[in-house]
Amino acid sequence: MTNPSADTAIVKLEDVHLSFGQTQVLKGIDLTINKGDAVSIIGPSGSGKSTILRCINALVQPQSGRITVDGTRVDQLTKESERIALRKRVGIVFQQYNLFPHLTVLDNIVLAPTRILGVDRREAEKLARELLEKVRLSEKADAYPGQLSGGQQQRVAIARALAMKPELVLFDEVTSALDPETVGEVLWVIRDLIRDGMTSILVTHEMRFAEEISDTVVFTENGRIVDHGSPEQIFHNSDNPRIRQFVGGLSGGRGAVRDGEGI
Ligand SMILES: Nc1ncnc2c1ncn2[C@@H]1O[C@H](COP(=O)(O)OP(=O)(O)OP(=O)(O)O)[C@@H](O)[C@H]1O
Ligand SMILES: [Mg+2]
Repeated sequence: MTNPSADTAIVKLEDVHLSFGQTQVLKGIDLTINKGDAVSIIGPSGSGKSTILRCINALVQPQSGRITVDGTRVDQLTKESERIALRKRVGIVFQQYNLFPHLTVLDNIVLAPTRILGVDRREAEKLARELLEKVRLSEKADAYPGQLSGGQQQRVAIARALAMKPELVLFDEVTSALDPETVGEVLWVIRDLIRDGMTSILVTHEMRFAEEISDTVVFTENGRIVDHGSPEQIFHNSDNPRIRQFVGGLSGGRGAVRDGEGI
């Protein structure tokens, strides 16, 4: 949630244009995210939501515009070492958790801090156990990913991202592949992180969750940000018929946070 003492921009996209071949995917994206904010990006399939996240993490490069992350220009990084440095600061969690199946939960979390940050194994393990507690999986430290449910694997993936002590975390539809009954446990963990002040950008179809946890909601369509504002504005007071239709159609739909789940 918004921390009033820290309203400095941590991510800034300015007039970002990106095409894949002839296909224009981002057509002038402007977006500012302040430290400690939770921003949800919603919008129809193919509207460019994942591409925005991938730009912030330098997984793809726009043809024009500027992207800064905590003061660093990240849209024109040329060296792999610069991209790795960026990814130490920006965690990303995808729909597919991509854990290493041959490593235990603990080893999955310890791997990047020891290999990439050069953290001492004992220290990395201590942090990993703290993070497992945070995602409520302490008892699964020695299990292998194949022995966990989808929701549990996704929580390990979140712990793995946090093990790098990122300045912000990007979540790309992290509950979309989960059984409806395990969606809640993952949202619970993300909600805790946001409450702790982690700057978070979430692409999500969980409308009620987005409404509850976001400082700002951004609606994308056809490569543009059509509107952005408070959850109240976007979900309840938009005068844009397209947005009204979109949030109206999804707000009670599949995967929405259900009442009575206690999350
Ligand atoms: N690597 C790529 N090569 C070519 N086209 C791509 C590539 N990645 C994305 N696109 C196209 O860019 C457009 C935007 O894709 P993006 O994945 O950002 O959409 P999205 O809003 O995340 O959609 P969804 O809700 O389905 O995940 C789509 O038309 C997609 O087909
Ligand atoms: Mg996507």
